[in-house]
Amino acid sequence: MSEITKRKKDHIQITQTGVASYIKTAGFENYEFIHNALPEIDLEDVTTETRFLNRWFGFPLFISSMTGGYHDATILNATIAAFCEAYNLPFGVGSQRAMLEDPSQAESFKVVREEAPSAFIASNIGGCQLIGGLAPEKIDKMIDTIRADAIIVHLNPVQELRQKAGNNTFSGVREGIRSLVKDVEIPVIVKETGSGLSPGVISQLVDCGVAAVDVAGAGGTSWGRVENIRNGSVGIHFTDEWGIPTVDCLLGAREKIEDRCELISSGGIRSSMDIAKSLCMGAVMGAAALPVLQAIQIGGYDGLETLFKRWQDDFVLLLCLLGCEHPSDLDMIHLRRVAVR
Ligand SMILES: Cc1cc2nc3c(=O)[nH]c(=O)nc-3n(C[C@H](O)[C@H](O)[C@H](O)COP(=O)(O)O)c2cc1C
Repeated sequence: MSEITKRKKDHIQITQTGVASYIKTAGFENYEFIHNALPEIDLEDVTTETRFLNRWFGFPLFISSMTGGYHDATILNATIAAFCEAYNLPFGVGSQRAMLEDPSQAESFKVVREEAPSAFIASNIGGCQLIGGLAPEKIDKMIDTIRADAIIVHLNPVQELRQKAGNNTFSGVREGIRSLVKDVEIPVIVKETGSGLSPGVISQLVDCGVAAVDVAGAGGTSWGRVENIRNGSVGIHFTDEWGIPTVDCLLGAREKIEDRCELISSGGIRSSMDIAKSLCMGAVMGAAALPVLQAIQIGGYDGLETLFKRWQDDFVLLLCLLGCEHPSDLDMIHLRRVAVR
């Protein structure tokens, strides 16, 4: 088994049990919805349709980038793709670096377009791979393999620095992102992988011209912890809990984004209440990785559908209770900070 295949298998095995999740939370429990006893709306008037990057989706949920680039990833990617096609949800494939290095690993990516001919699918590549510029033929390869609607660039310095033989050079990532934005015609989305984007980093990304940022904050899967488990680190390491909680990222992003780029909330999204709170805080979409992986591991496509239908039902009920017809009606006025008791 190649090193990259082993690494990707380890990532699924370690994360799916939840053992690599942060102890600290994303912070959603610190906010409560304000009950509205006069909603003045009918349940049937509520819609979950959401506009993101000039396209309409069935629900404000983006399925976060996870895997691809080795044989066993094909089933997982095919399941997610078929599901997103059925429910008109956007999703991102995992890093395509493996297939750029070994074209025989493209199958687990190609399958997503076969299963989802019309869904919104995003490519994925690490920021470190953009240092010095990614060759145009590689960019074309990533996009063409899945007929991508967008490219996601992931930033993961904690993971790289804790991974054996991981990357330890980060100078030039920002310029790489700026060039990518200029070189491609599809939108570029930049995300963290669970340690969060600070207001300062979001400002720089907005200046690079990215179309959307996904804060991917702390409170869900900790990639410091994943790599610390993999490298056999003994006891607690400070990077296990390194990162900005998702709610802090969202609140910090509000003033930096204005109308110049769209905001995705992820990192510890574990219910549709978390998505709704994120939308109140300025996000257009919530995104999740681990809950999707776990639902598929338990029940395959049906397991994912069961999870999604519960989130959908709860979300519709919540919008009605708040007197909101559309997800875009959600606003900070619907939340109150819970007093520390
Ligand atoms: C098994 C697994 C593999 C992942 N691989 C990638 C990846 O290749 N590229 C990426 O941008 N993020 C990757 N992520 C990170 C997720 O997209 C997400 O940002 C992070 O897990 C936080 O979300 P969560 O708390 O819902 O899990 C991966 C996550 C998981 C669970």
